[in-house]
Amino acid sequence: MPNKSQEFQSDINPRHIAIIMDGNGRWAQKRFMPRAIGHRAGVKTVKKITEYCAKSSVEVLTLFAFSSENWRRPESEVKLLMALFMSSLQREIDKLHTNNIRLRFIGDRSAFPESLQKKMIESEIQTQANTALTLVIAVNYGGHWDMCQAFKKIAENIATGALDKQDINEQLIEQHLSTAGLPDPDLFIRTGGEQRVSNFLLWQLAYTEMYFTTTLWPDFDQNSLEDAIKSFKGRQRRFGHTSEQVLNKLVSL
Ligand code: IPE
Ligand code: IPE
Ligand code: MG
Repeated sequence: MPNKSQEFQSDINPRHIAIIMDGNGRWAQKRFMPRAIGHRAGVKTVKKITEYCAKSSVEVLTLFAFSSENWRRPESEVKLLMALFMSSLQREIDKLHTNNIRLRFIGDRSAFPESLQKKMIESEIQTQANTALTLVIAVNYGGHWDMCQAFKKIAENIATGALDKQDINEQLIEQHLSTAGLPDPDLFIRTGGEQRVSNFLLWQLAYTEMYFTTTLWPDFDQNSLEDAIKSFKGRQRRFGHTSEQVLNKLVSL
């Protein structure tokens, strides 16, 4: 839900930025290099953008690293992405911790090897008290999966009598989504030129401002992010109200 204090303000920084990091493969192909090189270059961008957000007023950065549909890619690419995920996590976790970054994963972990699942839990526990930025990595994530797992948990609670079907409302569903406790994204960014949501945070993007850029993810840098934030700050978020209502409210704030 929109944060009430933010609802009518303009010219404020986004608290939560969610990014579909797209275009790694095309970045490599343009250079006549294998797609793997593009994915490695993409990891470097992840580091830079995370560091920038940790130093800025952004509170939450959610990055789409692997979708529930990405299993459809050739086995060799899926294996490479998993290996890159594991090695990056192992290499970067101490630095993230030193930089006061809290790490959280969303997505269906059950498909991952036990060793990776263990590492994910360990790194979440290690960084849980950090406050500079919450970095949410969406792996094996799908918006449909997120809603299904939330509905299953609610159904189980109804079956045991812990909940009644009358208790179902938007807030209850939000509390059972994988993003529970986080504000909804204010700004959605997709790199790589496609203009679609690709089963990302379907529920949570209800009132998010959308920003699409043709810049390929490995080329996305601090300036590109600042351009996106600038575009965001120039928008009027109305949440169903009229433009006039928003302006009146702003004057009275
Ligand atoms: C995004 O880049 C990374 C993942 C989906 C893991 P792509 O690999 O989709 O790059 P393009 O779209 O083929 O260029
Ligand atoms: C979306 O990118 C998923 C991630 C960035 C992890 P894709 O490149 O897989 O998206 P589609 O399939 O082209 O929409
Ligand atoms: Mg793609």
